[in-house]
This record gives sequence, structure tokens and C-alpha cells, in this order.
Amino acid sequence: MSDEPVILGPPAKLNLTLEVLGRRPDGYHDLASVFQAIDLRDVLRLWPAASLSLECSTPDLVGEGNLVLRAARLLQAEAGVATGARLHLAKRIPVAAGLGGGSSDAAAVLVGLNRLWGLEWPAESLVELAARLGSDVPFFLGPPTALAAGRGEQLSPLPALAPHIALVVRPALRQPPPRDKTRRLYAALRPEDYRDGAASRQLAEAIGAGRPLDPALLVNSFERVARGLCPEVAEAAAAMLVAGAWWIRLAGSGPCLYTLFRQDGAGAQQAAAEAEGLRASGVEIHVAATLAGDAALNAHIGPDSI
Ligand code: C5P
Repeated sequence: MSDEPVILGPPAKLNLTLEVLGRRPDGYHDLASVFQAIDLRDVLRLWPAASLSLECSTPDLVGEGNLVLRAARLLQAEAGVATGARLHLAKRIPVAAGLGGGSSDAAAVLVGLNRLWGLEWPAESLVELAARLGSDVPFFLGPPTALAAGRGEQLSPLPALAPHIALVVRPALRQPPPRDKTRRLYAALRPEDYRDGAASRQLAEAIGAGRPLDPALLVNSFERVARGLCPEVAEAAAAMLVAGAWWIRLAGSGPCLYTLFRQDGAGAQQAAAEAEGLRASGVEIHVAATLAGDAALNAHIGPDSI
């Protein structure tokens, strides 16, 4: 066995729309959402080893419930693999922030171990395991722009979005988010937060036709509860407005916020100026391009590109 690790760069995602349609009898909620992956990545390294182990740049994340280890154990059990792997995760995507980082890491573990263990499982089989790990996990095994239905796991690929730059701001929380943040936010939704999915369908159509993004379509059912439960979200939004943002949206169920710029001349300059202003005011900001192309999500990245 070689000591060369498999190295993957699991990316974050933005929900350009996130429409909760209603609560289902199984306790989940039906969604309509346009998912877009962005080039803000964790780095996952996988080495052959006799047993499974995980080290993480954020030690708090390593525990029995960790989705990365759960993904590894699930594939190991389902594929009847007798060997293990040493996993190292360098976190760059803000944790529990609405950017899907944990789900993306789990998807990358499935891809990486499939390769490391020489399983040659087809994508559909990995997707089936991914859906068992979490509603957002299957997206990270497919193309970087997709319309999601069901609890988020039913995906229709969309044509590539025109290149945009995302400014993602993480509000400075006075308390760490609870472990079951997503469940709590869903539970706090009221019927007036539910939507009919029309904005997601219209956005999917606009992307398909190559029309510019209309911010009026970028709706999120969690805006009211996230701002209500977390005053720091409103503070971060105010800082973004001061820096010149025209519009601001919640990332997933929050608490991160984002705005987008077309990646042409004027847009790129505006993004750089706004990012500079926000950095100067002490806000945590990540600047990332939207991803396009089939191989973008879990492309093998070599040590040189890290
Ligand atoms: O699927 P995942 O484990 O990521 O979901 C975490 C929690 O978020 C679920 O237990 C459920 O309470 C809530 N959820 C939901 N509807 C969805 C996705 C998640 O109610 N579509």
C-alpha cells in the first residue's frame, strides 16, 4: 500500500432559494431549493490504515456523532470492508453556519473511501448511502447547480450558473450554535414561513435560460426565525449594508449571510471593494466563486493546489 493520501476539497453550498413547503408526517419538511456549490473548501486527506480514525483541525468536531466518521462506518459496513483509513479534515468552511460543510465532508468521505478501498461503487450507490446520512449530503455527489425537492435529497441538475462571486459573512455569535441547530430552526417555523415553491421553479427556469439572477426570487423560509433567534444576524446584515451590499440573504438556515456579484469587470471590482470594507470593520468574511462543471465538487486535488 502506498502512503500517498487521497486528497479531496469538499466545497460549501449556498441555497439560492430555500422554500419550506410544509411539515410531513415523518417529521421532516418538504422543500423546494436551488443549491449552488461555491469554491470555499475544506481539505480532506485519506490514508490507508488498519482501522478507522479521524483527526480534525477543529478538535471539538471529532466525536462519535461526527458525520464524517458515520459516513466512513456506513460505507465500511455496507461494502463489507475489513480494512480502515486514517482521515484528516482541515476545516475552512464555517461550522453549523448554513453552508452545508458537514454534509459536504460526509459526501467527500464516501467518494474518497470508494477510491482508497478500490470499491468502484457507482455514483447511484453512493447517493443512496448519502441520503441516509443527511438530507443535504446527496447534492455534494452531483453537479454544482441543482433544484432540490423532497427533504432536499431529490435533485434535478441545472445548467451551470453564470460565474458569480459570493461574499459570505459569518456573524460573530455570542454563544456557539447548539448541535441540533437545523432541527430547532425547522421546529421554529410557522405556517406563514411556508412557501409554494414557485420562486425556486422560476429561478431554475431563469438559470436554464441564462437570464441574470433576480434577487426578488432568492427567497428563504428561515429569514424570520434566524433573525428572531439570533440578533447577531441582523447586526451582520447591517454591516453588509454599510459596506454597500444591495441585497443580503441568509445562507441555508443561517447564521451566515451572503450576497452575490456577477464575475465580470464591474461585479468583481464591487465585490473586492465590499469585501475590503467588511474586513476593515472586523467582520469574518469569505470570498468564493460559484462552481460549474461536472468534476467540480469532489475533484481530486493534489498537494500543490492546497
Ligand atoms: O437530514 P438532516 O439530518 O440533515 O436533518 C436534520 C434535522 O433537520 C432533521 O432531523 C429535521 O428535524 C430537520 N429537517 C427537516 N426537513 C428537511 C431537512 C431537515 O425537518 N427537509
